[in-house]
Amino acid sequence: MKQIGILTGGGDAPGLNAVIRAVVKTAINRFDCRVFGIRSGFDGFIREDGVSELTLRTVRGILPLGGTILGAANRGNPFARKVIRDGKTVIEDMSDEVIRRIHDLHLDALIVVGGDGTLRIAKELHDKGLPVVGVPKTIDNDVGGTEVTFGFDTAVNIATEAIDRLHTTAEAHHRIMVLELMGRNTGFIALHAGVAGGADIILIPEIPFLFESICAKITMRMESGSKFSIVVVSEGAHPEGGQQVFARAADEVFVARLGGIGQVVGKFVESVCQAESRVTVLGHLQRGGSPTAFDRWLATRYGAEAVRAAAAGEFGTMMALERGHIIRTSLAKALAIPKRVNVKGDAVQTARALGISLGDDESDPPPH
Ligand code: F6P
Repeated sequence: MKQIGILTGGGDAPGLNAVIRAVVKTAINRFDCRVFGIRSGFDGFIREDGVSELTLRTVRGILPLGGTILGAANRGNPFARKVIRDGKTVIEDMSDEVIRRIHDLHLDALIVVGGDGTLRIAKELHDKGLPVVGVPKTIDNDVGGTEVTFGFDTAVNIATEAIDRLHTTAEAHHRIMVLELMGRNTGFIALHAGVAGGADIILIPEIPFLFESICAKITMRMESGSKFSIVVVSEGAHPEGGQQVFARAADEVFVARLGGIGQVVGKFVESVCQAESRVTVLGHLQRGGSPTAFDRWLATRYGAEAVRAAAAGEFGTMMALERGHIIRTSLAKALAIPKRVNVKGDAVQTARALGISLGDDESDPPPH
């Protein structure tokens, strides 16, 4: 192994720079191998100035930094790229051009750091013969095959701190504070932060909610002397028999953007539960800033292992965490089933045992 490439695709997540640093250091120190950084995801293979060498000097000081020194792009799918031809916007498959560029650069391996969408592209490129190794990144924690993706822990910490801070106003003003969190179609961030922050109601996509249950919980708390409540809503949560709420529809390039369910819940609380409510949407604050120690540790181990996997010629693999150990699993297996909150698992059971309402019928608070 003489030369490898690395790119970061999809949205940014805390820990991306830690992966890049680990890849560069491991490749140079252990394998005497050169590393090339591809800028702005797969787009870097198409742009003139999209590839540059990464050295030990390039990665100095980046471990605690959020974002990615390589840039990311969540519309850079080479299999469906938006281009202008004769004044018209068309979608083109440019994967052959990407493959040609990788061969021209004499890359022996490409390390792709990304979430579900980016890793799917990596798998398709591997299916076309490219030597690809994947590293799972996302605050949503929705990539299968691994217990945790890096970025998730930081997001949960930021969301938990937000809940702590909302408690202040909730108690002082006797309000129902609704906090909308990210997570796409999974409620991992909401569930983990909600339990860690002591939320009263947690709504997640995996458990469709009933508006009446929200009101019942708030009323019960009021009658028992707690004049405030904290409601944590995952952006993908939806009422039973109802639809998810979107801030932006999908087009040929962008996936649909969830957002707005917090306002729906807040309005309902004010109008039907007769309680004063305020809604906070935490948004991209969950993805920004310095990664937690856990995310730096996990991202570093993923990066170092990805280089070892590439050196061993284990392509089409994804690094994963299993019972505390970093393992190599197949990209195909990891992407076959997206990871979702186990509604019968211990996290949900724990939330229920604590008297947290999950917005469904089953969430009747246990007797005190
Ligand atoms: O996948 C990470 C994530 O932050 C989701 O939680 C969220 O739905 C989405 O990305 C937001 O995407 P964008 O940054 O394109 O608005």
